[in-house]
Order: sequence, then structure tokens, then C-alpha cells
Amino acid sequence: MSPPLRSSRWFAGHDVPGFLHRTALRAEGLSSASIAGRPVIGICNSQSELVNCNVHFDALANAVKRGILQAGGLPLEFHTISLGEQLMKPTTMLYRNLMAMDVEECLRSYPLDAVVLIGGCDKTIPAQLLGAASADVPAIALSGGPAAPAVFRGRALGVGTDLWHYTDQLRAGQMTQAEYDELEAASSPSVGHCPEMGTASTMAALLEGLGMALPGSATAPAVDARRYHWAEETGRRAVDVAREQLRPSAILTGAAFDNAITLLLGLGGSVNAVVHLLALAGRVGVELPLRHFDEIAQRTPAIVDVRPVGEQLVEQLFHAGGVPEVLHELAPLLELDALTVTGRSLGASLPARRAERSEVVRTLDAPIRPPGGLAVLHGSLAPSGALVKPSVADPRLLQHRGPALVFEGIEDLGARIDDPDLPVDADTVLVLRNVGPRGGPGMPEWGQLPIPQKLLRAGVRDMLRISDARMSGTAFGAAVLHVAPEAAAGGPLALVRDGDQIELDLAQRRLDLCVAEEELELRRATWSPPPRAYQRGYGALYLDHVLQADEGCDFDFLRGRSADPEHEPLG
Ligand code: FES
Ligand code: MG
Repeated sequence: MSPPLRSSRWFAGHDVPGFLHRTALRAEGLSSASIAGRPVIGICNSQSELVNCNVHFDALANAVKRGILQAGGLPLEFHTISLGEQLMKPTTMLYRNLMAMDVEECLRSYPLDAVVLIGGCDKTIPAQLLGAASADVPAIALSGGPAAPAVFRGRALGVGTDLWHYTDQLRAGQMTQAEYDELEAASSPSVGHCPEMGTASTMAALLEGLGMALPGSATAPAVDARRYHWAEETGRRAVDVAREQLRPSAILTGAAFDNAITLLLGLGGSVNAVVHLLALAGRVGVELPLRHFDEIAQRTPAIVDVRPVGEQLVEQLFHAGGVPEVLHELAPLLELDALTVTGRSLGASLPARRAERSEVVRTLDAPIRPPGGLAVLHGSLAPSGALVKPSVADPRLLQHRGPALVFEGIEDLGARIDDPDLPVDADTVLVLRNVGPRGGPGMPEWGQLPIPQKLLRAGVRDMLRISDARMSGTAFGAAVLHVAPEAAAGGPLALVRDGDQIELDLAQRRLDLCVAEEELELRRATWSPPPRAYQRGYGALYLDHVLQADEGCDFDFLRGRSADPEHEPLG
């Protein structure tokens, strides 16, 4: 016999509380037949007209509801704060933990036996995962799907790069304003998240790698009817997940994280996933040192031909069989026994054999990029670690020593980077600081510092750049990111001065500031933190509690999870 439903604590009692709880649903027009004994499945919907990537989620939620009803559950949809990369300022990363708290407390406090998490745009999937992991209510995730590809004058538009190309054409008088307006209209042809392997598509795929979403569901386009088929099936499965009381803590094990990291590397996915996985591991008590990402990277090649590593879009990956095909090819590197939300192991949920020879999903023997797409550095400049993507950097810069040129923040960078008198050459190491979790605040995606204009004109295309920021999942270059501790927290990055020698030694995984310790002590004695960006409200809470990048930028008081959702958390 299955254990009693959690929601029965609200609805089963023949007493005054039971009466009152049932009348709350009666007021919504639900008869006793809708309520009695049915698993209550929450639909946690991050739909918002402020978030274009997630704007179609009400239709998805309706399909989820059909599935829940088919399986005998009672769907109850609710909304939370939503985080949109394009409109939210200063950066959505500032609010990821706020959304995670919103999700966690809704799951904790309401009579839900399970929840379907509908997320899409970059931070919404990780925020929902974090909240569900800490509430530890049975949960299954459904991503919103990639947007339709943008086509301008018969040519597929790349993200970002094409915009600069056409903007230059406009400036040069080779394109009219009317043509430029036409480009704008063509640039975002549908709802859904960014269609290349940026952070949103990466996190959607990792839901499958972690075992938190149905295998195959991640890549169906937002506008494809099959996404709605996945939504129905997710709803049906959610009812079983509730009956089985299959909790995130049973799925999010060390093996699940190893699988997710292997998939991240196999996809050539966004390094932003690193901070989200680190935060998630902290919620469920899985030991996940930053170095572990490097270990997995050394054995895992990138095998998927999707931008930015390859040429295609996520839609082509969908047509090639989606994430299950990728996992199938990566199988020798995976922990196939890991339990998934299907109730079966990851191995048991994969296709029996690869679909066919595919141009999109390559093989381990003939990958699109060799292993080593991500490296973790430590050293006197990054005692708690930093990241670099060697596969997208000029190899010359990966064993490099050069003089620092320091920018104190994004305004300083903007004001000086194109100054013709900037003391800089191709060997200079550009340092941008005070753009980390606290300094940014919110660790914005400013880590791909622009090349100074005078060097661009001289043909320089890459330079060693170091910051405590993140970088867009689609960006490239010899950018050392996520330096921890950050400058605003008093990390050594704060002590660098113009002309100091900085050395990156990829082979040794080292990043060093070549300045004597006594000198650094003197500098430390006169250092003071930059002014606080917030004096009150959520911003002040954030500044007081945000952890460094190597701990996933979670809040110190949010780590851990609850044993019994509606009672005191164990911490
Ligand atoms: Fe939302 Fe890229 S802007 S996914
Ligand atoms: Mg709605």
C-alpha cells in the first residue's frame, strides 16, 4: 500500500480544518469528486509577459493539466516571480536565489503532493531546481523549448555576431534604416528560449542529464506540437511521481551530478551551468568541488554540432533524436544506474541503439572538439578557483605571462578601452574587477572584455582577459572567468595593479599574480571594499548572504534542504 498523500493532511480530515481547506477549493468551483483522494499536483509556472522566452507557458500548463487529469490527479497552477535575460536589470543572476526562495516556500507551504516546474529562460530552470531540491517535494521539470530560428533575407541569423555585422553595415551606409528595421523584426520570430546551446538550452538539457525531466523532452521547439505532447506526458508522470513519493533527494545524487557535468561537456554547453550545478549540489549535500568539472572535462569531448561550438541550432538536435541520442553516445562516461524521474535508471531510459549516423550528434571517436573544453585554475590570483574555456581561446594565451592593465568596473572599462593612448599591446593581460557576485552585483556576463579598438585594427583577435564576472554561454576567447574570491570580497584580484605580471599556466592549471607576498600584504592593509550597491531590501539581503562563485553564488542560509516540507527545515 502506498503511504498517505501529503495533501491528505489538509483535505482528508473530518474536522474543522479539513472543512475549511476543502471549502477553499470548493470556492474555485471544484466538486468533492475533484478533490477527494486525488494527488494534488502543483504547476509552478514562470510564465510572464516580461519574459518573452517564457510567455507561452500558460498553453504548456494547460497541456500539463490534461495529463494530470488523465492520470487522476488534481492540477493546481500557480505563478512565481520570473526572470527574463533581456529586460531584467541589472542582471537576472541577482534574482536567481529570490526566485528559488519563492518556489521553495510555495512548495513547502501549500498542499502539494508533487509539482511540475515549467521554466525556460536562463535562470528560471536553475531557480526552480534549487527551490524544489530544498523543499524536497516530488518534482518533475518541463522546459519551454527553443525559439524558432531567425532568418533574414534567406539566411539564418547568428546570435550577437550578425547584429554587429549589420550594425557596421548601417554605420558604413551599406544598409538603410528601413532594412535595419526589417532585421530587427526578423531577429526574434517566436516565443521560446534562445535557440543555440546557450545557458537556457544547456540547463534544459541538463534537466535530462540530472534525471529531473522526461528523456527527450528538452529539445522540442517551443512552437512544435510535440512540446505539448511532452507537457501532457509530464503531467501524467507527475501523478505517479506523487504516488511514488519520488523526491528530488532520491534523484539528485553524486551520480546525477557526474552525468549532468558529462552532458554539459558533451554538448559544449554554457559554463554558466557550473555555478548553477554547484549551488544545486550545496542544496542536496552532494560534495562537488570545482576541480571535479575539470576532471570530467579531461575525458569528455564535445560531440554535438550546435552553436556556439558547432553550426546547427537546438532544433536540429531535436530532429536528430535530442538529448537521449547524446547520452547514448556518452554512455561509456556515464553512471547509467542513476535513478531518474521516470522511476527507472538513466540507462534504462535511453534508446536501445543510436538512431543512425548523425551529422548533429557525432561520436566519441570523431567528436567536434576534443576533451578539455573547460579547465579549472587555482593559484595566487584565484585561491578558490577560476574557469577558462581552452577550446575557444588562442592557444598562445593559455601559457602566457604578461603585464596587467586593470579596470575597476564596467564604467571604467567603457570609458577607457578604446582610448588611443591606452598602454596596451597583444601581450597585456586585461583585468576587470568588482563585477563578481557581490561586486557586480549579481556576477553579470561581462567577462568577455572587448579587445581595445587600436589592437583590433592591428589585427589582434584574442587577449588574455581575467575577471570575477561570468560570460554569456555563446561567448568565446581567452577569458578567465568566475575568479574566486572576487575583488569586492577582498580576493587577490582586488590587489592587482597596472604592470603587475600575471601568469596563466594551463598545463599546471595555475593562475598567479607574480607579486611578492610582503608587497601584497602592504596593499591589503590599505584596501577597502567598494561601496555597497544596496542599503535596503532584497539587494541588501543578497549582499549580506551571497556566496562566492565556487559555491554557486547561493545564499549561505539556503544551503541544505528540508526533511519535512511544511515543518522546520533541518538545514
Ligand atoms: Fe531567454 Fe536567452 S534571453 S533564453
Ligand atoms: Mg497565467
